[in-house]
Amino acid sequence: MSLLSITDLEVHLPTGAGLVHAVNGLSFDIAGGETVGLIGESGCGKSTLGRALLRLSSATGGRIELDGQDITHLDAKALKPVRPKIQMIFQDNAGALNPRHTVGQSIGQPLRLAGWSAKDARARVYELLAQVGLPKDAYDRYPNAFSGGQRQRIGIARAIALNPKLIVCDEPVSALDPSVRAQIINLLKDLQQRLGISYLFISHDLAVVEHIADRVIVMYLGQVMEQGPRGAFWKQPLHPYTRALLAAVPSADPDAVRTRTVLQGELPSNLSLPAGCPFQARCPLATDLCRTEKPALRRAVSGNDVACHLVEPAPLLQSKSIEETTQCPAP
Ligand SMILES: Nc1ncnc2c1ncn2[C@@H]1O[C@H](COP(=O)(O)OP(=O)(O)O)[C@@H](O)[C@H]1O
Ligand SMILES: [Mg+2]
Repeated sequence: MSLLSITDLEVHLPTGAGLVHAVNGLSFDIAGGETVGLIGESGCGKSTLGRALLRLSSATGGRIELDGQDITHLDAKALKPVRPKIQMIFQDNAGALNPRHTVGQSIGQPLRLAGWSAKDARARVYELLAQVGLPKDAYDRYPNAFSGGQRQRIGIARAIALNPKLIVCDEPVSALDPSVRAQIINLLKDLQQRLGISYLFISHDLAVVEHIADRVIVMYLGQVMEQGPRGAFWKQPLHPYTRALLAAVPSADPDAVRTRTVLQGELPSNLSLPAGCPFQARCPLATDLCRTEKPALRRAVSGNDVACHLVEPAPLLQSKSIEETTQCPAP
């Protein structure tokens, strides 16, 4: 059974300008101990999805199941025992930490709110400081005494305080220097191995996702364009949008497919969604069909699920070679 299962999730946000269609029919699962990477341009709905999973934004359609329980519309009281299971870490933990609270108070706050005694909470915070590689004396100091990487460790300690099953990591290393970035990624991986936590790892930095994710999801206008396991995903990306995103990034894997497609223009408005494929306005390969009919997410021979009319689905009987059955859209 999956730890997290979301089905046809929709999050539409009312604004002065109209209804923002931030998340539009997302479906995917995350297994226990798995890291799912979520990539897509700024504004495609990644943070809104994360907030919806934590029930900080309301779903306007679809379903969120955590650990077999439908949490989509639970009220505050029913959510209370669920909240510890799913936590979030942010890009800007400096902003998320109260500057007037000591590090010990900040990390201990969720414990105290959950009813832990001051003494037990203090002991647990010392344990957490050690787990995230911070010195014991960090307890009585204030957040401004720490570097960006150390503040991210404080945020991680706070997030794991109540033994969550899933952490939504929203651009957790985007503001850090490359060397510090690697340390924080290694810490997250290490904690995952020791504690069995699942991550939804949101990033616009593909190199970071390539490093950490077991599975990758590419999102555009709040919808899944392509998803697949790490090997297939990076070796044979098939959606024109994925190929354009990847084209801009050098890869550590010399076998990975790279094209010279350059992403033109900007993310279109999400106040109303286009008929047909969400990517059509920027797709160099769009046909009449793409402008009228929305492509379904279908399994391709690469092993990825792809929402593109130009990518052939995998045949049920795999009698042909990959070359014969896959029509990779040429750049
Ligand atoms: N609280 C909000 N009210 C109205 N619109 C919002 C709100 N939060 C995000 N949006 C809009 O929803 C869309 C998705 O935003 P977001 O989830 O922050 O994207 P990402 O994290 O991928 O950059 C954007 O068009 C953004 O302007
Ligand atoms: Mg965001």
